[in-house]
Amino acid sequence: MFDALPLAPPDAILGLGEAFKKDPNPKKINLSVGVYKDERGETPILASVKDAERQLLEKEKSKGYLSIEGLADYGSRVQELLFGAGHEILTGGRAITAQTPGGTGALRVAADLLRKHFPTAKVWVSKPTWANHPAIFTAAGQKVETYAYIDAAGQGLDFPAMLGALKLIPAGDIVLLHACCHNPTGIDPTPQQWQEIAKVMAERKLLPLVDFAYQGFGDGLAEDAAGLRELAKLNPELLVCSSFSKNFGLYGERVGALTLVAESADSAQQALTQVRVGIRTNYSNPPIHGGALVAAVLSDPKLRQQWDAEVTAMRSRIHQMRKLFVETMKAKAPKHDFSFIVRQRGMFSFSGLSNVQVDELRTKHAVYVVGNGGRINVAGMTANNMQALCDALAAVL
Ligand code: LMR
Repeated sequence: MFDALPLAPPDAILGLGEAFKKDPNPKKINLSVGVYKDERGETPILASVKDAERQLLEKEKSKGYLSIEGLADYGSRVQELLFGAGHEILTGGRAITAQTPGGTGALRVAADLLRKHFPTAKVWVSKPTWANHPAIFTAAGQKVETYAYIDAAGQGLDFPAMLGALKLIPAGDIVLLHACCHNPTGIDPTPQQWQEIAKVMAERKLLPLVDFAYQGFGDGLAEDAAGLRELAKLNPELLVCSSFSKNFGLYGERVGALTLVAESADSAQQALTQVRVGIRTNYSNPPIHGGALVAAVLSDPKLRQQWDAEVTAMRSRIHQMRKLFVETMKAKAPKHDFSFIVRQRGMFSFSGLSNVQVDELRTKHAVYVVGNGGRINVAGMTANNMQALCDALAAVL
């Protein structure tokens, strides 16, 4: 039976990470998979997480199963991060949160829930979006469509086109929005544009499904939630898929959350019963460790403060690398204007390289970036690899 299985192509993002590992070139540079690197080029365990882990080792008494939706404390802390402590959604009990294996797990639980209960609703994603978005929704049996997002130059948001496209989406459909640090472009709506998006979503009766994988990597933990909070003002129902891979550095621990906001506490509890059915038939209940670490850091004022500072440091380093990249490219390829890179947020930007140039970067210079727009992971740049990186880019340009 298995002889007849066709060969699947490598994953557009993780496949590059695997190819990078196998590359024997000692000067290789990996700007493909979205993983944060410090100035030494390492992906560290955050000190706040390590402290929480030490405490957990001492205190933990059992590895018994969690409930299907995971740790209750984790759920409340996630909701506070999303909406702010004391928000009416929290005090009114209008949100339920399920701890999921990563942000991808949250997206898949959401996709299964929506497909089962709203089978005719289509999912609309920005063009472009993270390559795994359409793949997840298609795998769950949903129809995926796209709405306009970037301008013709590929450097900014085409807001009129985006808003125009949203206004044409049929009521009851689902619109996937990136809360901040849009993946793959780094291009986000302004707070004022978010207000308009929220208004159109509410008027058109569209369901917001917000992917929140980079909270704190844009302008700050609360600032990055501004779009979501605008949406929540006018849209009584929405879904949020959180990931703590990046802002807690918990990539391999797979820590995410699905938060569902309903019109009332009763509806939220009713919906939770269906979320639970979906999880039980998928992975039964979530892994404990990563969620326990996040809950521990967020519940302890000292660790929370330390974590805030660590997120700030990661965000600042990325921003510095954006500036250094633009300056270095200006010196090495003065005819090409990369100044738009400093206006973008988060780990990613579109370099604008063609697929041929992306291939050449990899094969001739051992520099790995993602195709279809030339997505670069700015968080993989360091002062040490910047010269070699920009030399390679200038060569392929
Ligand atoms: C990325 O976009 O590189 C990250 O979100 C990692 C992944 O799973 O693709």
